[in-house]
Amino acid sequence: MTNNKGIFPIEKFQDIETPFYYYDSKILDSTLSTIIKEAGKYSNFHVHYAVKANANPRILKLISSTGLGADCVSGGEITAAIEAGFPADKIVFAGVGKADWEINTALDNDIFCFNVESIPELETINEWATKKDKTANVAFRINPDVGAHTHAHITTGLAENKFGISMNDMEKVIDMAQKMSNVKFIGLHFHIGSQILLMDDFTALCHRINELQDRLEHAGIAVKHINVGGGLGVDYENPNEHPIPAFRTYFETYAQHLKLRPGQEVHFELGRSVVAQCGSLISKVLYVKEGTNKKFVILDAGMTDLIRPALYQACHKIENITSQAGCQTYDVVGPICESSDVFASDIQLNQCRRGDLIAIRSAGAYGEIMASGYNCRRLPKGHLF
Ligand code: LLP
Repeated sequence: MTNNKGIFPIEKFQDIETPFYYYDSKILDSTLSTIIKEAGKYSNFHVHYAVKANANPRILKLISSTGLGADCVSGGEITAAIEAGFPADKIVFAGVGKADWEINTALDNDIFCFNVESIPELETINEWATKKDKTANVAFRINPDVGAHTHAHITTGLAENKFGISMNDMEKVIDMAQKMSNVKFIGLHFHIGSQILLMDDFTALCHRINELQDRLEHAGIAVKHINVGGGLGVDYENPNEHPIPAFRTYFETYAQHLKLRPGQEVHFELGRSVVAQCGSLISKVLYVKEGTNKKFVILDAGMTDLIRPALYQACHKIENITSQAGCQTYDVVGPICESSDVFASDIQLNQCRRGDLIAIRSAGAYGEIMASGYNCRRLPKGHLF
């Protein structure tokens, strides 16, 4: 039996300690088949799953089994991706501060490509590759100075951001790489931000890439791989109506606006859009408290389990999945000793009682993976159904 909304198998939740992450494998499967179908329309499109969004081992295994590559930002993610079955030759490695041991992990595993963000990093990769008598493929992450209509904390492609190499330096760094003994320049990498719903933002990136490609063509520099990063957003307000993000339009946008040269391959690094909608944070009502002007629902989950509302003012749909009693207005808060430990203010929920189960929806991306042990709390576990 499922609850009234037919979404959660709540009878199976009885023996699971709350809070926990619930992952719906059906939603994840259909998301993955949509990606494969839509990206598959273009033979030169390659999708790498951005492991940072969710590195739960069962989720990683499911994703790797579909043949996607992986986008990693740390040595730990490279190891997790390889353990989950992602082939090393489909792993890209980004990050503004790669430590020596992480570079070595990448070299030892013969990953596909380093997305390089600075000259000192390039030199370090070349040194280690020389010591190991290997050649490291490198792409340069270029900061395209393209804004994205999203939260300031998750926009990355502006000139003022710490990420990438300035467009002005592009030819210079490529020239440096081409003169180095143990790195091979193979492409350009970009990423303008996350939770982007306006396709115009991706179109603007395409136009910028086209300009840069013209520049490189004039300089006689060949580029085999164009990595456009990730960033496709999801519908946090209506997860039931839109469980699968707009992959068709997303890939079409790139197919239509990127002016590719013969033989060029396009890479995508999708995180949120792959896993957000399959996950919910399931938590229990500890207490309902009458404040002076407000009614508080105090959950056993807090910002340590899902930090997005506190950190980015993110709105996640919240539902009482136990009660069908009439709606009331509540502030939904966690137990952490921080006033920012609030999931939502003044929202309507079916009347809450101690012990009711609450689902915080669209939490599959940047949820479990960003959990912390602050206040000596236990980390939430993830369960795939
Ligand atoms: N590639 C690069 C270089 C990135 O920095 C990111 C995300 C991705 C790909 C994947 O982007 P996605 O497809 O997931 O938008 N914790 C924040 C999001 C941080 C995103 C960081 N970079 C949140 O909860 O909204």
